[in-house]
Amino acid sequence: MSTPHNSAEIGDIAERVLLPGDPLRAKFIAENFLTNVKQYNSIRNIFGFTGKYKGVPVSIQSTGIGIPSFSVYVHELIHVYGAKKLIRTGTCGGMHDSLKLRDVLIAQGSSTDSSIVHQTFGGAINFSLLADFDLLSKAVNNAKKLNIPVKVGNVICTDTFYNDYSDANGTFTSNGLTLDEKMIRYGILAVEMESAALYLLAAAAQVQALAIFTVSDHIIRKEHATAEEREKDFSDMIKIALDTVVEE
Ligand code: HPA
Repeated sequence: MSTPHNSAEIGDIAERVLLPGDPLRAKFIAENFLTNVKQYNSIRNIFGFTGKYKGVPVSIQSTGIGIPSFSVYVHELIHVYGAKKLIRTGTCGGMHDSLKLRDVLIAQGSSTDSSIVHQTFGGAINFSLLADFDLLSKAVNNAKKLNIPVKVGNVICTDTFYNDYSDANGTFTSNGLTLDEKMIRYGILAVEMESAALYLLAAAAQVQALAIFTVSDHIIRKEHATAEEREKDFSDMIKIALDTVVEE
């Protein structure tokens, strides 16, 4: 059985899945890190591949940008295809001063301006969106073994790439800080656009999920990694994600 968005048959997709946003990144990961690769989806050019990593079946499913697109693919991966361990491998915009371009960041928690939590629980509960602790601790250990430094903490998952937060200053905060400044003071490390959906969908279905990022931009210092830099450090993140997703 396929879906309107995914032509894979049941059994074509592994229980262990990496989730890059960009379809060409999915192709790059499949071609450079997996063996026995088979492409199972090209609907909308949102490519998906299954292969083996260290002998274990792994799929690489691209998701597009943002919570709505991401949620379509991840919902189907979990509920139609039986995915059990899902690791998002994406980029993020650094906010905290401690982050440098090309750092690898693991989202221990995901704060969000999206309405998805409210849609799920109503106004009564501000549900905490958390990484799966088993995957999180394995990822930190695997990064150590690979000698790749990682930062771990809270991120803000936004519905807009372009927003007016910084213009909204005092109307958003009580103490004269811009909303960005306030988030940073409360320990938000970076901004991205999918982790909240991943952690919510995983919690609802009781499967394991983790989001790992490479810092591609610093939105406060207005820095941007070059294409070459993105490529190399993207590979560091993929090694951590693959070692973690196949670990028993
Ligand atoms: N904003 C949101 N998501 C991102 C960014 C950003 O600046 N950079 C990489 N992913």
